[in-house]
Amino acid sequence: MKIAFFDAKPYDKPGFDRCAEENDIKIKYFETKLSEDTVNLAGGYDGVCVFVNDVVNKYVIDKLCEYGVKFIALRCAGYNNVDIQYCYGKIHVMHVPAYSPYAVAEHAIAMLLTSIRRIHKAYIRTRDFNFSLNNLDGFDLHGKTVGVVGTGKIGQCFINICKGFGMNVLCYDKFPNESLGLEYVDLDTIFEKCDIISLHCPLTDETKYMINKDSIERMKKGVVIINTSRGALIDTDALIEGIKARKVGAACLDVYEEESDFFFRDFSGHIVEDDTLARLISMPNVIVTSHQAYLTREALNNIAETTVENILTFEEKGFCPNELCYHCGKIDNCKTKGISKCF
Ligand code: NAI
Repeated sequence: MKIAFFDAKPYDKPGFDRCAEENDIKIKYFETKLSEDTVNLAGGYDGVCVFVNDVVNKYVIDKLCEYGVKFIALRCAGYNNVDIQYCYGKIHVMHVPAYSPYAVAEHAIAMLLTSIRRIHKAYIRTRDFNFSLNNLDGFDLHGKTVGVVGTGKIGQCFINICKGFGMNVLCYDKFPNESLGLEYVDLDTIFEKCDIISLHCPLTDETKYMINKDSIERMKKGVVIINTSRGALIDTDALIEGIKARKVGAACLDVYEEESDFFFRDFSGHIVEDDTLARLISMPNVIVTSHQAYLTREALNNIAETTVENILTFEEKGFCPNELCYHCGKIDNCKTKGISKCF
């Protein structure tokens, strides 16, 4: 079994090397992302292993099939970068549905606390022996209302932490889970009533730009927006205007709609070409991390183990419980998922 591993980083290798060696899988690590320009590197491999910013569009899928690649093993949960419908009948796609929802939820909270207690500013000041407290005043989380959009695995972890802080939690989910005992409201209520809004839903055609000029206008003055899900949930230009108008009090962003050109790479010696990203980073009440929320030891180990398990199950059975649903049009009577071959 030979795997072409794209967008490889030093922190990916220990976990994957260990799991691959134990299971006689050969992994070739490529630092480059999978894209139309690099897909030829996949020739001669049984499968490709990709991450959030690899480009798996129709062209790439056709080329992978032409090269005899049998599967795409995503080492992440989200798959908005894969043309999943086009894959149906051509190439199998598996993902890692959960690796550590705690990691992402805890990072969202870390960004929130950093932002509202001005830790990022205080850190720089005290390193310079500036012990002034001027302009470092924050606010208590206790008693504030937080709106959680998406009450899946990560959303639930985030909610539990918020409850520990004594916050009131309002939730919105397209598919509410009534067994969780949460207070579900409509999206408008989230926008209008919440002091803090945290996004934990997937990026779809429906959720793209759910934070936009209109929704920001309806929010409370000083609202803090947290996004650890996908960048394009937020219309970044509208967010910047909202911050400039002093409507949005702070933004905590682990994802950015144009992140694939920048995130995971070192541009410290360069002039960054993206004026929108540069403007965001220049703002004192915006914290940007580069899709780092998942990056804990526990998550990296879980990612490697589940990805390799997915590959082995697929090799053995020709299908895998973590194969994605391609929405083939037979959704109502689809009985294949996880128990037999999809195609
Ligand atoms: P999940 O699938 O457990 O939960 C997603 C929730 O969103 C579900 O409850 C679902 O019903 C809901 N949802 C679906 N469509 C919706 C809509 N139109 N409006 C509102 N809610 C909707 O997923 P999980 O594991 O909680 O992950 C959430 C997101 O976090 C992922 O989609 C991914 O984009 C992001 N993520 C980010 C990471 C990072 O490092 N920054 C790492 C892992 C995931």
